[in-house]
Amino acid sequence: MATIADVRQRPAERKDRWWLEPVVIVTVLGGFVIYSFIASVVNANYFFDPYLSPFYSPCLTPGCAHPTLPTIGSWYTLSPAFLIVGSPLAFRVTCYYYRRSYYRAFFWSPPACTIPDARPKYTGETRFPFLLQNIHRYALYLAIPVLAILWWDAIQAFNFDGRFGIGLGSVIMLTNVVLLSGYTFGCHAARYLMGGYLDSFHGKSLRYRLWEFATTLNAHHSRWAWVSLFGVALTDLYIRLCAMHVIVDLRWVS
Ligand code: FES
Repeated sequence: MATIADVRQRPAERKDRWWLEPVVIVTVLGGFVIYSFIASVVNANYFFDPYLSPFYSPCLTPGCAHPTLPTIGSWYTLSPAFLIVGSPLAFRVTCYYYRRSYYRAFFWSPPACTIPDARPKYTGETRFPFLLQNIHRYALYLAIPVLAILWWDAIQAFNFDGRFGIGLGSVIMLTNVVLLSGYTFGCHAARYLMGGYLDSFHGKSLRYRLWEFATTLNAHHSRWAWVSLFGVALTDLYIRLCAMHVIVDLRWVS
């Protein structure tokens, strides 16, 4: 019987399109990184009343088109997106599911089952910088307050100068935050936090329900990861196109 070492040594014998998944992941993740970098650098067209792009929320400088918490002084002149990108970035980069995906697609470590690693030696996550993947639980703690602010933004997206209304942008922003919540609360670390660390749920029915909820989301964590990624990019794109007057926001206001 072939050992793991044997499999690593021999050339790929699979005849199916095993390379398709890594190619798709590189394309989608690479495309998202490029899009989000450009959207963060341009520092314009991220607000179209009452919609605020998730890349710029919370907006922390007085120079923001729509300040959320203007706590950073006017000395800061770079894009406000740079101030908050660290939290969602750290959360996604250290996510167990994304790690599996980008280790396979970008590092070929390994690219697919029974296909040899690109490198002969496997050191796992025992060395810098991969050792930093262990901060995932703390990245979750940072992501939750940002998610709460995105919920506030989504509620504000139904407020048109003090009047209740519904625009296509309101629906898109609400969908985006629902997808992000499904991704965040289905996180393995969130599931642990909600009760996964307990030896028994006896007498802890609320904890059990929370844990069960997280477990249900967790079963489809990979799907939540992808759809929420598209959700963030498409929400920004929609607001950007409205702000640039390329498209018109369909809306009804009471
Ligand atoms: S494991 Fe994916 S977000 Fe925590």
